[in-house]
Amino acid sequence: MAERRHTAAGDVDARRRAVAATWDAGEVIAALADDSWRVRKAAVDRAVRWHDAGEMARALVDVLAATDDVGARNAALEALERLGAPAVDALVAALEVDQPHRKFLLDALGGFADPRAVPALARGLDDPDPNVQVAAAEALGRIGGPAAEAALLACADRSGGMVQLTALDALAQAGAVVPATRALRWADVPVVRVSALRLLGNARDPAALPTLVAALGDRTRRAREAAIEALARYVDDGATDAQRALVARELRALGRPAVDHLIEALAARQPEVRRAAALLLGVGQHRAAVARLAELLGDPDAGAAAARAIDAMGPAGHRAAATAPDPAGDLSDADFAALAELLRARCGLQFERDAAYLLRRRLAPRLAAVGAASFRDYVRLLQHGPDRERELDAVIDAVTTNETYFFREAYQLRAFRDEILPTLRALRPRGDRLTVWSAGCSTGEEAYTIAMLIVDAGGFDDWDVRVIGTDISSRVLDVARAGRYTANSLRSSDLPELRRFLRRTDDGTWEVREAIRDLVVFHRLNLVDTRAVLRMPDCDVVFCRNVLIYLDRASRARVVASFYDRLTAGGYLLLGHSESLVNVTTAFEIETLRNDTVYRKVG
Ligand SMILES: C[S@@+](CC[C@H](N)C(=O)[O-])C[C@H]1O[C@@H](n2cnc3c(N)ncnc32)[C@H](O)[C@@H]1O
Repeated sequence: MAERRHTAAGDVDARRRAVAATWDAGEVIAALADDSWRVRKAAVDRAVRWHDAGEMARALVDVLAATDDVGARNAALEALERLGAPAVDALVAALEVDQPHRKFLLDALGGFADPRAVPALARGLDDPDPNVQVAAAEALGRIGGPAAEAALLACADRSGGMVQLTALDALAQAGAVVPATRALRWADVPVVRVSALRLLGNARDPAALPTLVAALGDRTRRAREAAIEALARYVDDGATDAQRALVARELRALGRPAVDHLIEALAARQPEVRRAAALLLGVGQHRAAVARLAELLGDPDAGAAAARAIDAMGPAGHRAAATAPDPAGDLSDADFAALAELLRARCGLQFERDAAYLLRRRLAPRLAAVGAASFRDYVRLLQHGPDRERELDAVIDAVTTNETYFFREAYQLRAFRDEILPTLRALRPRGDRLTVWSAGCSTGEEAYTIAMLIVDAGGFDDWDVRVIGTDISSRVLDVARAGRYTANSLRSSDLPELRRFLRRTDDGTWEVREAIRDLVVFHRLNLVDTRAVLRMPDCDVVFCRNVLIYLDRASRARVVASFYDRLTAGGYLLLGHSESLVNVTTAFEIETLRNDTVYRKVG
């Protein structure tokens, strides 16, 4: 007792020191309710280093179950989350007995990517208190995986109202693939229609097409936008050619007002909707949308999809985009050529003349930012201005195509996880060290995906594993380092089991879990700067996907030669599905794996 008074007495620093040094679990728990956040933080740090994690976890769960003090509860939650597995055991055990605060316990369980939490959460779906049922459904959605999805689906079948809505919403958010026949039943129920349309997107089943196409003309904007996002799933990178062809036919046949709704959605608040609408307009070849698509080119989230949509319309699309009204003014042939040369020389990026409108649109905000009256003035500034180096970096930030998402090109990722990693583990080319480079990593999804695959493959726990993400654009690297993503980054429904490495945050974004972030570092690096590349460490695998396509031939050869140099003997090079080393180099050996064909540096 005398000691307990010790942590409650003195100024903030004295209380912090006391809690950091105490061996009394009661002292730590009491300090979680301290008035000062610094003392509460010290208590959390002490709790997660406690010698008996199980004992501490049980004490922390008691705090959740007993207190109404929000500060103490949040501190206890943070400590539990950092404790990991022992916290799951303690929460599950506490839920076995009747708990007045069981909603908090269920919420806390949802924060763990631990399938052992699923049975306790599934029981929560049948709780007499509807608030507890909803908390259980939300938590199951955050955990995901087959068992959680089966529980949610059964719940959606047998219940109605808020719980059914939460269950379906959770399934849709978790990327669950529910048979279209089941989801179609809910598409006509107004309260759950939006979730049902999202699930039909995950299903990618032709049987859902008539319902989704009809929903483009829905009365409510939310349903229309859900249908737009769902239909985009049928034509995006993860879709098969057959799915794409089927949807293309439907989209070409679209009449008004569905096309108008799609055009209107190019201005939607959510970037995923803008992106999806652009994609569908391109697939449907709706040239009436070109002017609006051209306006979207400067949009960091949907600009790439708009460019692809215009591309999909062929030369006529380019012509229409080039002549669309543009407040940024004209870019003459000479200024375009000067700009293209600056970009080529600095980073190998190649721009053809028919894509000049793309540079014009993406650079218009830069003209405004530096106060240039015309493209002529702006190009002079880039050539001779005192700040030309910094401004050229801003140009690169604005004109690079940064499209990327988690689990992109799943067949190749399976080759990496199931074939390349076991080979490297067996060969141990560099002892217990594994280094993988994501070259041109953009906003980081690829680098984090690689780390997830390494953890998922297993067998590297006591290895020195490092995933290095590099890109030339500092803007995208800031996003990568933050490690928080919107649903757009999760649009591939492949490898759903890896979603356990992401945590849903309160604002609806997805955060990469610490265990994955710890394996990844990000650096700025220009791939055509051969001297800078020399500073990269030796690598076992280089991923360079969807980068070489943007570079001119000479730069491509230079970059691939640096990869060869940085790879260890027997190391692998993985390119994007539309890229190859034909006409670039013959130095690599082609290796045909079960899941993919890859390049390998001969040993
Ligand atoms: C389309 S993203 C590819 C992202 C990821 N690899 C993927 O496949 O999902 C292309 C990235 O390459 C980067 N890039 C282009 N030229 C580069 C260069 N010379 N050096 C480094 N990165 C470059 C761009 O900034 C952009 O983020």
